[in-house]
Amino acid sequence: MEQKKVRPFQGKTLAILTGGGDTPALNASIEAIRDRASVLGFKVYGIRKGWKGLLGDGDIVDLTGQPYDGWYGGTALRSSRTNPLPTKKNPEDRVPQILRNIDRYKIDVLVTIGGDDTNGAAKKIYEMHGVPVIGFPKTIDNDLRTGTIHEYNGEQSEAVLCPGFESAAKGLMEYTLRLDTTAESHSRILVLEIMGRDAGWLTGSAVFGGAELALVPEVVMTKEKQLEFFEKVKESYKNSKKQSLIIAVSEGVRWYDDKTDKIDVVYASSEVDEYGHARFGGISGVIASEISKQTKIEARGQITGYYARAGECRKYDKRLVSSLADKIADILLREKYGRMPVLKKIVDFQELYEFNTTTIDMGSIGNFPLPKDYYDDNNFQFTEKYIDFLSYMLDKPRQAEFLYDFPKVVVK
Ligand code: F6P
Repeated sequence: MEQKKVRPFQGKTLAILTGGGDTPALNASIEAIRDRASVLGFKVYGIRKGWKGLLGDGDIVDLTGQPYDGWYGGTALRSSRTNPLPTKKNPEDRVPQILRNIDRYKIDVLVTIGGDDTNGAAKKIYEMHGVPVIGFPKTIDNDLRTGTIHEYNGEQSEAVLCPGFESAAKGLMEYTLRLDTTAESHSRILVLEIMGRDAGWLTGSAVFGGAELALVPEVVMTKEKQLEFFEKVKESYKNSKKQSLIIAVSEGVRWYDDKTDKIDVVYASSEVDEYGHARFGGISGVIASEISKQTKIEARGQITGYYARAGECRKYDKRLVSSLADKIADILLREKYGRMPVLKKIVDFQELYEFNTTTIDMGSIGNFPLPKDYYDDNNFQFTEKYIDFLSYMLDKPRQAEFLYDFPKVVVK
């Protein structure tokens, strides 16, 4: 019988880049993709500093057979917010330089690990110039549409799960837990500001560390809504046995300012990046000082900032990126470019297998904010549905309790 010839991948080169804000799961993703591609016979390159590494003479390293630590957070390839396409900030079309380098370095397949910006640009280059690209999701904000189904109370609805989110959420849970003692000691309200840009997904992780109230960007804090919120703060503080309260607020909360009579986010800088994004930061201080003014309870703001993005990759994320990288192997074998692997449904650690993943079109990812039924805007709290969602990744929320109840000395 004639032996069927299998077309070998030998001689092919795959290059990986990471773009946008880093996450603790980027090195894990690079390592997992590199390993799968190596098994298929690819030589694997790393492009340094996102799209920037494909400009000029190129900045490319060889990852084939190199030792790599996927547990170590961030990206060893470095990242940037360089946009290959012409924008207002940078009208130059950089695509010709990129195509030239793809040719010079003989890159056959490009894997872009990023959010909507990075993967959206890659898809355009694929469509316009036929460069074989594969996307790989990442963001601590968890706002990149992955079409992942969350089954809750027998019903299915669309949620999101992006690599990087679980590690950031776990870190923030631990961070919030730690803050409890200082909030208690001073009988204070702590307003904890959490990254996430225009989405509140990550803010809910503080609830798992003891935050009792929360504000998210999806609910606009009008003048009226603020009054309801201050009432709720007073009530929660009064009912707290500990005489302290932690409130988690998203960096992108839209807040009414009575000095300007406008509703806006608080900007950390007036600069925008090459994708047109401004930097948020500082809302926690504004809200804390308003709380102090309105409730007469001492309140302080605390920006968690880059803490969420920092540190090691956590267990769930590590296994998630491995499963998604298995799907990359599948895409490579089928040569189905322009696609990105995603998790089909929200599953727990044990269920993170390739058969629970699928692929979606990289060009139609877009942003996906926190769904309405994950947050109760009457009580300024995350709902049981959100708690269920995050419980697949984190331990159940900690119940706030105060350990000391000393008998009061009464003068006779
Ligand atoms: O998109 C990820 C993110 O960490 C956001 O949560 C945050 O608003 C932004 O990046 C910060 O960006 P930069 O690293 O440019 O300060």
